Amino acid sequence: MDTLNKDDSGSDQTPKMPEHVAIIMDGNGRWAKQKGKLRTFGHKAGVESVRASVRFARTHKITALTLFAFSSENWKRPQDEVSVLMKLFKLVLTSEVKKLHANGVRLKVVGDLSPFDPKLVQKIKDAEALTQHNTELHLNIAANYGGRWDIVNAAQSLAQQVASGKLNPEDINETSFNANTAFADLPALDLLIRTGGEKRISNFLLWQCAYSEFYFTDTLWPDFNENSFLDAVISFNERQRRFGKISEQVI
Ligand code: IPE
Ligand code: IPE
Ligand code: MG
Repeated sequence: MDTLNKDDSGSDQTPKMPEHVAIIMDGNGRWAKQKGKLRTFGHKAGVESVRASVRFARTHKITALTLFAFSSENWKRPQDEVSVLMKLFKLVLTSEVKKLHANGVRLKVVGDLSPFDPKLVQKIKDAEALTQHNTELHLNIAANYGGRWDIVNAAQSLAQQVASGKLNPEDINETSFNANTAFADLPALDLLIRTGGEKRISNFLLWQCAYSEFYFTDTLWPDFNENSFLDAVISFNERQRRFGKISEQVI
């Protein structure tokens, strides 16, 4: 990582860090299959890539990192695989929380937690309570998360506020809608990374990605490391974000 700040001429080449990065951590199953192993071997190996990504985000002072761990559609997988994923989630949560807290990471698990084992939900609540005042990095794990779920939730919450007389329908706008979504307290999503070669969003951050930059890589998730993250950030730095304006206006 010490190559990050200097190019061959020795001049300063610090890439501008995105404030909020999200990652669709895809390709665990294929990674394992390539090695003649069970898909779940790939999920276990993927934990090291999660650690590497958190490390990168902390080192480079990225404000928020949002990781897609389990989608609302992933329940449709074979029961054995779902069960291993749930166990792994519980295990990793237990083993990593202290270290995350010591490193000043605020952890949030975002998604519909109602179908999860109550013991897992309790662990999540405890981890969130322990880390709630940390400010080094906002780490969000999207679990049983779906972009449509998030939008529907926001709509429901606004409808309830209108029904109870707390909100006028005219006051529903992009700002108040956003305030009712799952990532309301975080900076706008700057960069969305997807590993594993697929070029789709798979019902991830639909509302939040309106003006995000997308970075797709064929690297399978267990092979993703700090250098891969740096490649994504370098690509992000090569983009011109115009937000509807013309080039001359944003230079
Ligand atoms: C992503 O890897 C992990 C989860 C969805 C939980 P996959 O399990 O989707 O791996 P591939 O895409 O089948 O290789
Ligand atoms: C997206 O990956 C969900 C996660 C990475 C958690 P999938 O592997 O489930 O996506 P699809 O089904 O190929 O679109
Ligand atoms: Mg996949």
